[in-house]
Amino acid sequence: MSSDPSSRRQFLAFLAASPLAAAAGIDGEWLARLGYSTAASDAVLGAADTMASRAMGTHGVLQPPLISKAADALDVFDFEGVAKQNIPVAHWGYLMTGTDDDGTIAANRAGFDRYTLKPRRLIDVSKVDASVSFYGTRYPSPIVINPLGSQKAFHKEGEVAVAKAARARDHLMVLSTVATTSIEDTIAARGGPVWFQLYHQSDWSVTKQMVKRVERAGAPAIAFTVDLLGGSNRETMIREARKDTRDCIKCHMGGAPLPGVSGRVDDRDNRRKPNLVGYEKLPPQLEKGTPTWEFVDRLKQSTGMKVLLKGIVTAEDAALAVEHGVDGLFVSNHGGRAENSRRATIVSLPEVVMGTGGKIPVICDGGFRRGTDVFKAIALGATAAGIGRPYIWGLGAFGQEGVEAVLAILRKEFELTMKQSGTTSLSQINVRHIGMA
Ligand SMILES: Cc1cc2nc3c(=O)[nH]c(=O)nc-3n(C[C@H](O)[C@H](O)[C@H](O)COP(=O)(O)O)c2cc1C
Repeated sequence: MSSDPSSRRQFLAFLAASPLAAAAGIDGEWLARLGYSTAASDAVLGAADTMASRAMGTHGVLQPPLISKAADALDVFDFEGVAKQNIPVAHWGYLMTGTDDDGTIAANRAGFDRYTLKPRRLIDVSKVDASVSFYGTRYPSPIVINPLGSQKAFHKEGEVAVAKAARARDHLMVLSTVATTSIEDTIAARGGPVWFQLYHQSDWSVTKQMVKRVERAGAPAIAFTVDLLGGSNRETMIREARKDTRDCIKCHMGGAPLPGVSGRVDDRDNRRKPNLVGYEKLPPQLEKGTPTWEFVDRLKQSTGMKVLLKGIVTAEDAALAVEHGVDGLFVSNHGGRAENSRRATIVSLPEVVMGTGGKIPVICDGGFRRGTDVFKAIALGATAAGIGRPYIWGLGAFGQEGVEAVLAILRKEFELTMKQSGTTSLSQINVRHIGMA
């Protein structure tokens, strides 16, 4: 494409008016979202370059210019560079790290390329319903806002901005134990139920009080994370933290992060983790060892909330979960932050679904960045797909507006894939709509 702005402007004007636009999947609404008008702005011209480079498959070689407003984003990756610019380098390292050489992060993405789409034609797709139901509550989209700790490290409004975006777009949100906002404040900002992710405490009496508190606050479900019970080695986080010239000790009493201790919260940091403070001091009933299925039974008995396990990746554990009365699963490797398995969650998904015998809902997360990724997961038996880093890119870039834009883009991409595949509801999407690459 010519680099002369006036000829690019003419090209956009031609596209907008041409039947070719529809054939290329470019509709009026899409151009409007880019801010396209007859007096095309510089941002639009930048977006045109982006379109061209991505169409040529050179995205990653030719980096698109940074966007200046959420509405200019074409895909979720457009938020990454802006967020990186805004977020302190140590916090960026915490967000982006995997374990060891980060190989499982790459595997999560590469996993989606093992599957292709097999669209069906000549089906009326003028109306599409992408809604999903969890335990009696329906959401218009199967894209779940996964739990992710310490969100005020990425934007001053942290989880509150995310909860407001979840409210505006009506998405299911799961709050982390190590959030920088309390479950009570998050539910208030969401204006509706939020699920809670549980990291167990070394003292069962504290875990039990935490569970009771979350239930009182109005959470309908709790997701117990089981994929970090042995610890993890996060090298990228440490390398990036070393570049940060600020005084970490001012905020983190424990100082700079250490190898092998991620996932543990230093007691003195709890003032920034409101879900970990305010518990009555009871005589300690210290856990012996790390949790086993007995702990899952105890957890189930201690609450009327639905109990899910987060971090299941095998058929064997999925079957055991059903046996122990678990109400749902997250197929997850913690976004490549647990063991460096190099096994994509989309690859683990089919055996987990098989292990449950279809008896409980299964949410799959890890590397979801496109609507086509979500479609592939639903085709392989997932009830929904969870996202982590993409909505934090939106948050770090533009606060609540950025999170909303990320949700809107993924939803639009997913619904487009549904229509193009000849499916109008989640129940119609099945394994026959995908193939092996
Ligand atoms: C910075 C960061 C913090 C996270 N914190 C938590 C957490 O507190 N609890 C939890 O269960 N999972 C946590 N996760 C894992 C996410 O819930 C999710 O499994 C993962 O981010 C999905 O992969 P994605 O980031 O590639 O979308 C975290 C992930 C990241 C990147």
